[in-house]
Amino acid sequence: MGLTFSVVTTPADRVAAELLAVPIAKTRILGPGADAVDAALDGGLAAFLEETDFEGNLGETLAVPTSGKLRAKAAVLVGVGEIDKLTVDDLRRAAAAVARRATRAVSVATTLVSVAPDLPRADAAQAVAEGMVMGAYQFLEYKRDGKPTKLSKVSVISDGGAEVRAALARGSVIADAVVWARDIVNQPAQAKPPAEMAAEARRLLRGRGVTVQVLDVPQLRQQKLGGVLGVGQGSHQTPRFLKLTYTPAGTSGKALAFVGKGVVFDSGGLSLKTGAGMETMKCDMSGAAAVIGAMSALRELGVKTRVTGYVPLVENMPSGTAIRPGDVLRIHNGKTVEVLNTDAEGRLILADALSLASEDKSAAVIDLATLTGACVVALGEKIAGLMGNDDGWTSQVQAAADRAGERVWPLPLPTDYRKGIDSAVADMKNIGPREGGALTAGIFLQEFVEGVPWAHLDIAGPAFLSGDDGYHPKGGTGFGVRTLLELARTFEPPTSSDVKPAKSVKSAKSAKSTNGARRRTRR
Ligand code: BES
Ligand code: MN
Ligand code: ZN
Repeated sequence: MGLTFSVVTTPADRVAAELLAVPIAKTRILGPGADAVDAALDGGLAAFLEETDFEGNLGETLAVPTSGKLRAKAAVLVGVGEIDKLTVDDLRRAAAAVARRATRAVSVATTLVSVAPDLPRADAAQAVAEGMVMGAYQFLEYKRDGKPTKLSKVSVISDGGAEVRAALARGSVIADAVVWARDIVNQPAQAKPPAEMAAEARRLLRGRGVTVQVLDVPQLRQQKLGGVLGVGQGSHQTPRFLKLTYTPAGTSGKALAFVGKGVVFDSGGLSLKTGAGMETMKCDMSGAAAVIGAMSALRELGVKTRVTGYVPLVENMPSGTAIRPGDVLRIHNGKTVEVLNTDAEGRLILADALSLASEDKSAAVIDLATLTGACVVALGEKIAGLMGNDDGWTSQVQAAADRAGERVWPLPLPTDYRKGIDSAVADMKNIGPREGGALTAGIFLQEFVEGVPWAHLDIAGPAFLSGDDGYHPKGGTGFGVRTLLELARTFEPPTSSDVKPAKSVKSAKSAKSTNGARRRTRR
């Protein structure tokens, strides 16, 4: 379990590892260490490659015979694509290809970090570590005949010394957090009801500098978290709310707030999804997984900013106690919502969380949510939608995501679209027109953000993939963990003059009952 990394300066032909992995650029340009493989073939590598269709495209791999002339038992070539266009993310992908190819070797040595001398060496080393760990990932818990990878040791051949060692450590801590998030996303919903998710978070975060506060149903009532209670009331698995706090020594000032949607299963509720529509809905807690996973790595990464996590956890089920279309919920900040579609549940629980994060006077807020199918239609499966109320803050998020290698793209929150969620009976309804559904959801969330810079990532596409893609396997990806950690590592409190206010609603703050117009009868 887990990979350990070390830095060695041993030449490629004498490095002690089962497998030597050497980069080749397009078209068949030999990278560092390839000379050792060539020598093992008595100068015949180029001729050997001529006989194959291996060109050095990014992620291609090819095992080559070494006739026992290297200290490593075997050698594998890994394509890195066009050398003058090589990016840090290409290194992640190449490293992942090596890890996937090396499942029967315990140890692998590689020169990959040095393939592109123009890239900052620390960035390259961090990316190689991330790619190796993410590429080696498997989810085999329920497979009787699964073949777990044997890979456990990676030697990075580099003269970068301490700088490279630190970057490898950073990459491996970050990728371990990604792996935790993938694991819990891939778990079936039966294994992760809200109470169990809370217990898992406690186990993960113990000893990692994060305090965990779990609100149960009586406390949710006390805190007037009407969105969480309302969505959660249809399931026997009662809702929870996690508040996670990371306070590094010697810091004061406002915290950076992470908010994650935690719907452990989304059946749609009484506005029931189709059978096919539910097949992947165990993934609807991917935002929560990203927040919890990221928070587990803050201390090890030496993050100097205070970070608070807000994680609503519910199961959205149809039953005799479920919320009905037409019911009205009262969110923590006092605003009321007419629930016309119980399948638009994510925004209801996020409303409470965003309202709490605002009330706590966070320095800036970012939420991650598998929120809308419409966002997947707009941007496809691989790109998350980025919205927000503050251009400086959304640019910071975009830049962090770019550096982390997670693809996000801006979408607007047009103020004149607000009328699309006007309700005849409450302050707003929870659905708008079909068109622009990702924007409507963002506009809805904005109603619960008060006076803080806020960014929203709709991760409905990239959180859970229908097939392998680079260093991501089919299924849960852990999307968002790397962006959150990069954000926390480089956080600059936005100068919040930019914050665009949501439309004010007169009746807000005059809250009387927790949930709906009258007290509910159960729980
Ligand atoms: N969890 C879904 C969104 C989703 C869809 C995530 C596909 C991942 C993949 C969300 O709760 C939902 O059901 N949204 C509805 C909103 C609609 C009723 C306004 C949707 O997108 O259809
Ligand atoms: Mn839904
Ligand atoms: Zn959902």
